[in-house]
Amino acid sequence: MVDKRSAIALRIIHFARHTLRKYSRLSLTNRSEAGCVTMAANSVEAAKEAAAHRAVIDFVEDNKVIGIGSGSTIVYAVKKLAERVREENLKLICIPTSFQARQLILEHKLTLGDLETNPSVDLAIDGADEVDDRLTLIKGGGGCLTQEKIVASCANKFIVICDQGKDSHILGEKYKKGIPIEVIPFAYVPIGNKIKGKFGGDVELRMAKAKAGPVVTDNGNFILDWKFSAMAHNWDEINREIKMIPGVVETGLFVDMASTVFIGMGDGSVKEKVRT
Ligand code: A5P
Repeated sequence: MVDKRSAIALRIIHFARHTLRKYSRLSLTNRSEAGCVTMAANSVEAAKEAAAHRAVIDFVEDNKVIGIGSGSTIVYAVKKLAERVREENLKLICIPTSFQARQLILEHKLTLGDLETNPSVDLAIDGADEVDDRLTLIKGGGGCLTQEKIVASCANKFIVICDQGKDSHILGEKYKKGIPIEVIPFAYVPIGNKIKGKFGGDVELRMAKAKAGPVVTDNGNFILDWKFSAMAHNWDEINREIKMIPGVVETGLFVDMASTVFIGMGDGSVKEKVRT
């Protein structure tokens, strides 16, 4: 009887030890893995934040109309903008480039404006998916390229903020998802075929992640991602030719638009690329 009880007790102790070892091992692994991921992600986030702060500190002045871009880097700029508005009592009107930007402006209690009442923008700040040496940008990774380009085109100054992962000599060196092109849904197949026929590469209809079917933009359109080969191209000409295809709303190629790009580096510094 006693033997049987102690055998059961031993089995329980063995099971408890095994379980404890298993879970402490797991949590250690998770902790170190999470630690690595968090550190790497942290330095990218710190780089984005540093670039965003530079733009807001160096370029935002009182009584101005500011275009607010879209994406994850602009979040840091809006936070800094809100801080400056609170502390310095700045009078700014913020023009959003997307639903997300509008939400950000409202969330941070900034003054929301639009192009109807403020068609002339003093300064637009936005992120980018890639920046080359001539300050040509790929934008639209988040699908907001059309409103972003409209607002940037209305701005006296267009400043870009990003981390060093976006800084390239030529487009396509780092950003592998292609050039986003917003199109009228009805025409997405012929447009894709025309782009492939004219410029080569591949064209994909961007699919949604948490919904069946394609991504639908803030303007009710589709996005084609044109995967081109990375080499020096005449982006101005290509942009014009793509825009001439009926059904193309806008391209994510921003040629000769940005005047300064602030690039947050891994060491905490901010590199500045200026268009000459
Ligand atoms: C939104 O459509 C894009 O143009 C963004 O501005 C661009 O993708 C940069 O986004 P992140 O700041 O998230 O990198």
